[in-house]
Amino acid sequence: MITLLTTAACVFGISLIAQAQAQEQAPAQTPEADAWRAVRAADCARCHGKDHEGLAAPSIVGFARTQSRERFIAAVLDGNPPMSMPAYRGNPLIESRIDAIYRYFAGRADGSIAPGAIPGRQ
Ligand code: HEC
Repeated sequence: MITLLTTAACVFGISLIAQAQAQEQAPAQTPEADAWRAVRAADCARCHGKDHEGLAAPSIVGFARTQSRERFIAAVLDGNPPMSMPAYRGNPLIESRIDAIYRYFAGRADGSIAPGAIPGRQ
């Protein structure tokens, strides 16, 4: 009986741990989290540096802090090809998520989203 109870307790304990791990690993499903993944997939950091805070190219976070939503969206979709900023208009990965991408960087700029954090997960 004791063995049975111990086994049951163990199985229950393990399933709790498994559940906690599944929650830990479950991707955050907010539009900003999706935007964050797209920005990583597009590798904006290649030019804009770690956490997009500037390298060869200026800080995207700083730009979102000082510029309007309209200017931000134009900067990304129109780019500035002569200055090596690609135009992302027509790139579905970026263009279809441009509002959420702006909200992601606006959140970075006002500090509500931490560098490197997946937005929507505390
Ligand atoms: C090949 C390098 C490169 C990549 C990749 C790149 N950028 Fe840029 N980006 C630049 C450069 C260089 C500038 C500055 C252009 C200029 O001087 O006007 C810039 C400018 C910008 C600006 C305006 C900033 C300012 O201060 O004028 C924004 C916003 C921006 N990029 C967002 C992005 C996003 C979002 C991505 C990914 C989807 C991205 N960039 C990918 C090189 C890059």
